Amino acid sequence: MIKEIDGKAFVITTPKTTLILRINEVNKVVTEYYGSALGEINDISPLVATFPTMAGRSVVYDEELDPNISLNFIHSDFSSPNKGDFLTPSAIIVGEDSCTYDFSYDHAEIKEPEIHPTCPSPYEAESELVLTLADKAMSVGAKLHYITYKDSDVIGRYTEIINEGEKPIVIKKLASLQLGLIDKGYELISFYGSWANEFKKNVDKVGNLRYSFDSTTGSSNDYHNPLFLLKEEKATYSSGNAYGFNLIYSGNHLEEIEKNNLGQIRIVTGISPTLFEMKLEKEESFASPIAVMTFSNKGTNGVSHVFHSFINQHILPLGNAKKPRPVVYNGWEAIEMDIKERKIKTLIDKSEKLGIELFVMDDGWFGTRSDDQHGLGDWFTNKKKLPHDIKGVSDYAHKKKLLFGLWFEPEAINVESDLYRTHPDWIISDPYHKPSKGRHQLTLDMSKKEVRDYLYERLVTIIEEGRVDFVKWDYNRTMSDIPYKNGTFFHQYILGLYDLLKKVREKFPTLWMENCASGGCRNDIAMFTFFDTCWVSDDTDSYERSLIQGGMIYGYPLSVMSNHVAAKTSNQMLRKTSYGTKFDIASIGILGYELDITKLDPVDEKEIISQIAFYKEHRNTIQFGEVDILEEYGDHNRLLIEVHDNDKAVVLYSNLIQIANPSRTYLPLVSLDEDAEYDYSVRKEGISLHKFGNLINRVTPVKVHEGDAVINFMARIKDVPNEKFLGTLSGKALNAGALRLAPEWAGDGYSESTRIIGDFGARLYLFTKKTK
Ligand code: DGJ
Repeated sequence: MIKEIDGKAFVITTPKTTLILRINEVNKVVTEYYGSALGEINDISPLVATFPTMAGRSVVYDEELDPNISLNFIHSDFSSPNKGDFLTPSAIIVGEDSCTYDFSYDHAEIKEPEIHPTCPSPYEAESELVLTLADKAMSVGAKLHYITYKDSDVIGRYTEIINEGEKPIVIKKLASLQLGLIDKGYELISFYGSWANEFKKNVDKVGNLRYSFDSTTGSSNDYHNPLFLLKEEKATYSSGNAYGFNLIYSGNHLEEIEKNNLGQIRIVTGISPTLFEMKLEKEESFASPIAVMTFSNKGTNGVSHVFHSFINQHILPLGNAKKPRPVVYNGWEAIEMDIKERKIKTLIDKSEKLGIELFVMDDGWFGTRSDDQHGLGDWFTNKKKLPHDIKGVSDYAHKKKLLFGLWFEPEAINVESDLYRTHPDWIISDPYHKPSKGRHQLTLDMSKKEVRDYLYERLVTIIEEGRVDFVKWDYNRTMSDIPYKNGTFFHQYILGLYDLLKKVREKFPTLWMENCASGGCRNDIAMFTFFDTCWVSDDTDSYERSLIQGGMIYGYPLSVMSNHVAAKTSNQMLRKTSYGTKFDIASIGILGYELDITKLDPVDEKEIISQIAFYKEHRNTIQFGEVDILEEYGDHNRLLIEVHDNDKAVVLYSNLIQIANPSRTYLPLVSLDEDAEYDYSVRKEGISLHKFGNLINRVTPVKVHEGDAVINFMARIKDVPNEKFLGTLSGKALNAGALRLAPEWAGDGYSESTRIIGDFGARLYLFTKKTK
């Protein structure tokens, strides 16, 4: 709801938050309050920041309007330099003979929300406030948009600049959101990373500095995701005040958090100004993409809950948003580009046997693609590899009642391709330099319509003729050698990408589409307006993955996060982990498998069949439930994540390094129904005989040695069941952390309740509400 008070203030209310904006004494838009919902407000005067005296030697903005106000000390929602505001600005504009563009409030409108003119918009927007500002001397206008969404605590925010004069102007920076907060001792939580190492959490105490992070790679990127949180230092996972911010944009971005000596915090987020410029001729305008923000007094998990339900309810493509995500098999780590019809069919046979629901054929099915130097761009089936075309294998999968998926990397091109030989001018390059490659490939210029038309035709033909149900859309390099195009190139590329994705989505509203960029190199909210899911990371090592998923959960729901169980020895880490552990971690999101399933030992096959059955039984809770992080490898050496809905909860327990003679421990839950009783248990998983080394002799009738053929043989067909853990307890006791866990293995005895988890091991605990 948005309400105006006396034409001078605006109260934006969401179910649990209030944002109060005011037009101040010098006609600037300022934030007077953003936080917990305040209920009905008619008089905001006690909340208003006052300036009874002039602060030191600051620039007084306008002595006639107010002799004490300097722009440097107000919580402006929009600012530009050169009139005394020295914090980071949200807009930098220059004209032929001026670099002062000074916007003052003109009028406001509360209206039915409109969709964004160029960039992705969330759906089911509820109400919109547009504050129109103007620099009348320069004939330039600005519109600040604030949008609320049905049943959501997210507020959307973007800015438009309109050239109403005769002379051209150049926008050098235009952020989507600027917000002022009073300093209450904040910590900044941001997410950095790289290939196979995405979403690593970074925590900084906000001191008197300007903190900034960005992407200048052409995509939202894994070096820094646009998601960030600010929490009061004393706030925890589930209590205390925290703010969350993100940007609905897939290109270069910049986030800035600055604190000044008056204890003011300014937050600015939007398109990165690096190599960006937008020239506006008479009557032209430019709109920044939409940024989103929220507040919760329930700690960082509270912020995550808001972002999760916002993405589920307002962002994900409607064709599949509410559907359970299928269990996937993807052959990449098993066969890489060695695609052969016979092998694919054998993998499909085995997938059916294991209970897989969607079979995905990854890279290597097209053109002359057998290594990463060839074929990208030639989206025509390689008939030597697939004599009966895509349809041959997809019909085979369909006959076995599996969906069929296919890999594409539409934006990429190899020099060794027919497409490059025919259209060398379609690549991104500048006129003076030899373009640099990444993963041996160049990037197509998506700002060119002819490029998009070619890709659209190829995608539609292959999807239709090949009866494809799922597309994995990969993007494997960061950009270089961009043509400057007066500073517009990066943005034009992203708009071109959105144009193609929009057309593909309109054509195939229920096609499953997975966003992949060498793993999570372009996982942002805008991409989720087109894609149902994303490939979280190319790192399938379970411990690494627990950190990556644990980071991504701060801002993105489990319904989008695809995780695969890969071979026991991780390709990325060479670390060996059991399939049980790999599943426990992969199941926190959308489950898939990515190993050679045709070569499974009987004991592993049994384990995987039971994993898939367990997942299907509980996936509704896991994929669409509310997620709480309980611990992150802190004092207790473990990561705990709880997912729950009305009927049950699933808790992931992931160990770091096993501790000798470990302390006794417990499970601290947070969200169970306090009026209900729950049956609890641990998921049944097998422990390999190899885990016990020579201790196995304590139970075998004949003496064996670790590594003996006989042990190898036995371990292929038999394992040891994990600990027994069963009982009933009230939701109240569970939320109070009363549930005790049996001790871990400590080398001096074994009982059927001893937990043998070990280094980087994991468990899944299940809590099912008893019906009264
Ligand atoms: C990078 C992706 O992240 C992988 O999953 C795989 O699809 C390869 N590309 C294929 O080239």
